[in-house]
Amino acid sequence: MKMNVKAIASWAITAVVLSACTAVPDSPGLEYTPDMYRSAAIEPYVDYGQIKERVNPELAMKMSAKVPPFGTIPYYGTDSAEVAIRLPFPYLPNVAFKQTHDLRGFDFSADDTYLLAAGYSNNPYTLTEQNADKIFADGKKLFNANCAQCHGEKGDGKGPMSVSGIFSGVPDYADKKDLSNGQIFYSIYYGKGAMGSHASILNKKEIWTLIHYIRKFQDANYGKFGEAAVVADSATVATAEKK
Ligand code: HEC
Repeated sequence: MKMNVKAIASWAITAVVLSACTAVPDSPGLEYTPDMYRSAAIEPYVDYGQIKERVNPELAMKMSAKVPPFGTIPYYGTDSAEVAIRLPFPYLPNVAFKQTHDLRGFDFSADDTYLLAAGYSNNPYTLTEQNADKIFADGKKLFNANCAQCHGEKGDGKGPMSVSGIFSGVPDYADKKDLSNGQIFYSIYYGKGAMGSHASILNKKEIWTLIHYIRKFQDANYGKFGEAAVVADSATVATAEKK
């Protein structure tokens, strides 16, 4: 009796397994749980032209998700101040930059847009007492990773690539106090002279962060608030008097 149950069970299992096979080699055979093989959800990047049993030949093999329209601002989150930081820079690169700085995917201007950018003094990433420490800490990381090899960790233009002579003419930021925020953005974003464009390496928020960090090299008081600013002020006066 025991043997019989085992024999019947194994025959039954074999029968079920074999019933799943078909003569067509491409057919998956009998599917016990088809929803687990094929998702009923619409695939974002490929459209099979078939959703469940409904076939839509017009959609078959066409790309469904499109690239965002030109000028779209990549943005995540709900903070409207963040949107302002990522808005497009209002000055197009001068057409010469197409060749000299290998800029691709930009519109160009025939005007001397670097000069025009001098009128742009706003840094949309506003420095406040609350965010100053974070901005300078982020700026330091970004600067040491992307800029210090030429500009030096102290911003004096004496980075290893500059000292070794590979790159010449790297300025000391102390000599660049007169540049407006717009010009600094322009130079980092599109490039200037021997310095290449950083448009594809850094996002706009990172560039505005770096501009705050550069201002700190130019003025030790920059980004200090309240009492700290007063202390820093007297420290500058004291060192100035020593000289
Ligand atoms: C490969 C070396 C190199 C790297 C890397 C580099 N720079 Fe420069 N940078 C230069 C040189 C050379 C100049 C001088 C360009 C000129 O005036 O012709 C310059 C100029 C500048 C200026 C002055 C721009 C002006 O309008 O006069 C700023 C500001 C600046 N760099 C910031 C940065 C920042 C921020 C980074 C990092 C994101 C960076 N640089 C990375 C070589 C470099």
